[in-house]
Amino acid sequence: MKGIILAGGTGSRLFPLTKVTNKHLLPIGKEPMIFHPIKRILETGIDEILIVTGLEHMGAFVNLLGSGKDFNCKFTYKVQDEAGGIAQALGLAKNFAGNDDVLVILGDNIFNSNISEHIKSFNSGATIFIQKVNDPSRYGVPILQGKNIIAIEEKPANPKSDFAVTGIYIYDQQVFDFIENLKPSARGELEITDVNNAYIKEKKLTYAVLDGEWTDAGTFESYYYSNQMVHDLNEPK
Ligand code: DAU
Repeated sequence: MKGIILAGGTGSRLFPLTKVTNKHLLPIGKEPMIFHPIKRILETGIDEILIVTGLEHMGAFVNLLGSGKDFNCKFTYKVQDEAGGIAQALGLAKNFAGNDDVLVILGDNIFNSNISEHIKSFNSGATIFIQKVNDPSRYGVPILQGKNIIAIEEKPANPKSDFAVTGIYIYDQQVFDFIENLKPSARGELEITDVNNAYIKEKKLTYAVLDGEWTDAGTFESYYYSNQMVHDLNEPK
């Protein structure tokens, strides 16, 4: 399996912090944000990682991360010309993935659980990770029927569960066929939720409830929380 970190987008919700830099280069705890998903991927044993980001700050990512020598892994870089959505960014990874399955992590997702077992037991289809949250309407929200997810709604005004779909996904190669057939959403983006719904329609999506701490760092509130979380985990009282 190969790893992919999606680190494009405009970071508009963190403006002006993101006026002259990319969100995933901002500090969380003692390290740049992107170090956190990199570490989660490395601890699963995956050592080939693609970083997708926009043109403007690609140079800074390469300066920061280099070849991967310092991390005992191999980084590959791919430019997303404009922020056309998470699924568009993932579509750029098709050649990198080749015949392999992929672990995809959104670059602003900060968590502390080790998902190695899920990587080992993955066969085919898609595996997503969900977690209970206080404010589901900010996320992709699964609709659960019994033990199954029957659909996912992206940022619903009236969420049908109190779970968020986290930005951690495992996919087989069919993901790239689904992405090729996507249409942009009302906000003009290729949505990862539409990709997951395509897997659900073919009954090929499984999920796990993510244990441990998880947050994204995409808003001022969650950015602050992620700093606190990393601080508390590293330096418990
Ligand atoms: O964090 C989990 C949530 O992430 C999920 O629950 C949602 O279903 C999913 O759509 C996403 O929602 P956000 O509103 O948080 O997505 P955002 O636009 O902030 O993008 C998240 C990351 O994806 C961002 O840190 C970088 C990457 N990205 C995003 C866009 C729009 C790209 O690489 N390229 C892009 O064009």
